[in-house]
Amino acid sequence: MNQSCHMKIAKYEENCEIKAGLKMKNLILCLSLAFNLVSGLNDGLCPTPPMGFSSWNAFKQNIDQEKIINTVNAIKELKLDEYGYNYVIIDDLWSSAQRNPTTQYLQVNTTRFPQGMKFISDYIHEKGLKFGLYANAGVKTCAGMSGSLGFEKQDLDQFIEWEIDYLKYDNCFPQNENEPYKFDKLKSLLHFPSMYQTPDEKTRFEPMGAAIKAASNKNIVFEMCLYGFGNVETWGKHNGHIWRTTGDIKDRWPSMLANIDINDEKRFTSNQGPNIGWNYPDALFVGKGGMSNTEYRTMFALWCAVKSPLMLGSDLSKVDMNSEAFEIITNTELISVNQDKLGVQATCKNNCCSHSLFGGGLYAPLTCPGFRSSWQAWSGPLENGDFVVIIVNRYDHDIKVDINWQKDAQIPNGVYEVRDMWQHENLGIIESTDSLWSLGTIGFHDNRAFRLKLVQKTTKNNFLP
Ligand code: GLA
Repeated sequence: MNQSCHMKIAKYEENCEIKAGLKMKNLILCLSLAFNLVSGLNDGLCPTPPMGFSSWNAFKQNIDQEKIINTVNAIKELKLDEYGYNYVIIDDLWSSAQRNPTTQYLQVNTTRFPQGMKFISDYIHEKGLKFGLYANAGVKTCAGMSGSLGFEKQDLDQFIEWEIDYLKYDNCFPQNENEPYKFDKLKSLLHFPSMYQTPDEKTRFEPMGAAIKAASNKNIVFEMCLYGFGNVETWGKHNGHIWRTTGDIKDRWPSMLANIDINDEKRFTSNQGPNIGWNYPDALFVGKGGMSNTEYRTMFALWCAVKSPLMLGSDLSKVDMNSEAFEIITNTELISVNQDKLGVQATCKNNCCSHSLFGGGLYAPLTCPGFRSSWQAWSGPLENGDFVVIIVNRYDHDIKVDINWQKDAQIPNGVYEVRDMWQHENLGIIESTDSLWSLGTIGFHDNRAFRLKLVQKTTKNNFLP
């Protein structure tokens, strides 16, 4: 903890002492304020990563009322909400490029949304789902609509009238409407691989965070879509619930790997969890078609294991219940890994592009010799001593893999039952120290997803005479 944090806590503690003679209620309030300084917002809004649908990956700029209504209907018909997908987030281009000249309020693009946002919000809420909207911490949104910088309180008031449950807040045009990005070269160099714009991210994202905190009874989840810039890992948890760690994902295998690699940088993995917040390598694409179903299986398994928010990013009105895409996004074993109460992000344990000198995947093709010629083990702890292990074949060809659970996936000493989360079957009992366990052949770009269920903490070697 840094010195200023210590001082702030000391100040709160001093206040607490003064009030200690007063009511117990005040003391509890003080303690919780002091605790807030070391952990995240602690508002109980996102104890596990949120799940739902976000419009950008699915529709990009072709967004309108009909598409959103169809999406909501599809979520209900496919019963995706019963799996946990309950946010419907409308991304950029719902608004217009000019504010109302008299009131200065944001204006809805009525060509796209003829019945306005309250209509959409009511429709979503009547179906028992939650409503999310997009805005931007700059003078324009990334697609050139009105930005919210300097209008934070006013814009939030308007969003609250529309009863939003989630705000995605983007990071374009920080100061000038002709420059989408304005980098502070020195700060970016000093904080590499985190980039800084000017005004920096903290300065531009805090006013909206503060406005949302002031309206805390409204229960608004705050996503800071700032691409891992401005060293968000050092302050994001005090300002919001989710922060994007990466640039925009594309519906392509290398892009997917690049984003999961950046999201695995140590600066991010050590700053996440329940009551802190969630690292977000961007929305899913499963079902969209730019990758194979095999690649989507790998994407979904990794996103679940690293405790990313799970935002679907394909046209759900086209998803068939018998399709492989549906089977992937409704894999309840993987979803329960994602929603595990411990909330610890699984990390790459061998052949990791993310741990190079230059950070994660943006540089991986250049700096990570194993980028397309390695198999990786990703692992992390779950509740009750269990572990998730995802083995990823990054080669462009099939490979045979034999794994030593302890050496390759850093599974602690113990006896575990191996559960295959794609085949939905138990494969047998292992000791983490066993020399080698054969996984057989893993197809190119495919993965094996395991839950190691703890049977006994010590291995036989330790308890046998
Ligand atoms: C940025 C964000 C995307 C999307 C677009 C909309 O690129 O990172 O997720 O919101 O803006 O313009």
